[in-house]
Formats: sequence, C-alpha cells, structure tokens
Amino acid sequence: MSSILKVQRKRNLSTSQHWDYYEGHRQQVMSLLEEVSAGKKGRLCILGAGNCNDIELPALVERFDEIHLVDWDADSLQEGIKKQGIARESVVLHTGIELTGIGHYIERWKKTPPSNRDIDQGISLLSEPLDVGIDTAFDVVLSSSLLTQLIELPIALLGSNHSRTEEVVLKIRAAHFRLMASLMAARGTGVLVTELISSNTCKELFQCPEDRLSELYYQLIEEQRYFQGTNPKTLIPALLEDPFMSSQIAETKLTAPWRWLLGPERSFLAYGFVFRKK
Ligand SMILES: C[S@@+](CC[C@H](N)C(=O)[O-])C[C@H]1O[C@@H](n2cnc3c(N)ncnc32)[C@H](O)[C@@H]1O
Repeated sequence: MSSILKVQRKRNLSTSQHWDYYEGHRQQVMSLLEEVSAGKKGRLCILGAGNCNDIELPALVERFDEIHLVDWDADSLQEGIKKQGIARESVVLHTGIELTGIGHYIERWKKTPPSNRDIDQGISLLSEPLDVGIDTAFDVVLSSSLLTQLIELPIALLGSNHSRTEEVVLKIRAAHFRLMASLMAARGTGVLVTELISSNTCKELFQCPEDRLSELYYQLIEEQRYFQGTNPKTLIPALLEDPFMSSQIAETKLTAPWRWLLGPERSFLAYGFVFRKK
C-alpha cells in the first residue's frame, strides 16, 4: 500500500465515528446539493466521499437517479455506506483511485528530494487530462473536503517554503477543477467544498459566534491566513485564466462560510464554490 494512502487511511479511521460532530457541516453540504439539483433527479458523483460523514446517503438515494462515490481509500467508503444502512447496489463505488494523478510519482520525493527537472515532470503530468476510468457524465459533481488533502501532498513533500511549492499547489488545484469539469455533463454543476483554515492555526474559530463567521472569514483572507491554495478570492480568476476551463464554465458562485466541527478538538472554516458548465 502506498505510504500516502496509509496516511489517508489513518486519518479516515480517526474521524470515522465522528458522525454527530459533523451534523452542522453535513447540513451545509446537503443544502448545497439540494440547491444545485433544484428538485431534478440525475446523476451525482462525489469525489473524496471517504467516511461519508458529510452526506446523508438515504436522502441522496431518494433525490438522485444514480450516485457514484469515489475515493482512494476503499475501506472508508465501504464502511461509510454500511454505517448509513445503504444497500451496496444503491450506489456505484470507485475505490483505489488516486485523484491528483501524480500521487505515485511524487511519493518518491519522500526518499529523495526532487530536482527542478523532477518538479517539471510532476507539473507536466498535472497538465495532462486525468483519466479516472469513470465514463458517466454527471449532473452534479461534488468535491467533498478533498482539495486541501490533494494540495497538502506537495506541501508535505517539498515544504511550504520551497520556491516551487506554490506552483505545484496551484497546478494540482487547476487539475482538480479540470477533472471535475470533465466528469460533468453539459449544463452540469460542480460543487467544491473546502476549508479556509483550521482551529489549529486560528484559535478564535472555536469561540466565534455564528453571526460573526463571515467577518472572521474576510479578516483571515485580508491577513492572508489560510491553507495554501484555498484563498476563495483566487478561485474565479484562476478558472477564467485557464483557457480550457474558461471555455467550459458559464456561472460561478461562492457561498457564505460555515464552521465544520471535525471532532472535539478541531474545527475548520469551510465554504463552497459552485460552478456551472455551459
Ligand atoms: C477530509 S476527508 C473527507 C471525507 C468525506 N467527504 C467526509 O467528510 O466524511 C478527504 C477524503 O479524500 C480522500 N483522499 C485524500 N487524498 C486523496 C487522493 N490523492 N486521491 C483520492 N482520494 C483522496 C481521503 O481518503 C478521504 O476520504
């Protein structure tokens, strides 16, 4: 098993029993899905579904004609659907899929720090379309608290101060948007749910009253305090600068932020980014 996957498996195990903590976060994700599906049935794909703590599968099975769940970690997906009492045949599982497409390539950077040529090679892999072997065109594609995990890879391997970390992070983010768009049907919707910051570095997040979360969010952006690659102000310009994406995308929208309680000692400031395909 890849050592990066082992880390993900361990993390998933550490939150697999946190269903109750996730309630508020789950409500936010579910209302976003409800809003974008607008009462229509159709096909839903969830990237990074993992433990499925952020979705109510029985309600989604009612709402959508077809649901595909995708994650690298097969065990968390299988346990996630079992926990919600969902029949195995009600959903389509895509397990063992590494969603950056370069996980296996950059894993070797753990042992040997990469040269500039190795980084160039990683970046050129990220520029190629990623085939995850799913041939369905979806009405809604949700990327479910996955982006920060993807961009954490080069940060962990290169270090946040390496001169090329930011470049690799932004390429991973761009490739993720392109993957989402490639899975979407014409006029389909992409929903990215991600985290701006965690209570590890933003102690005020735990105490902040609900009605001041937006204020905190704007203050953090102003102070440039956020996970690398997650500044919401850069998302729309980045999509418009990417010739492939800008030719595909019709509409974009950022949601208000909310607090996601991960467990007794950690929370995130999360937000959603919604984009529609032409
Ligand atoms: C923060 S968890 C969210 C899980 C789920 N959405 C939930 O809230 O219960 C991120 C998920 O992304 C998956 N993941 C992380 N890196 C991945 C990668 N490179 N390829 C595919 N899946 C990955 C993990 O296995 C994990 O299930």
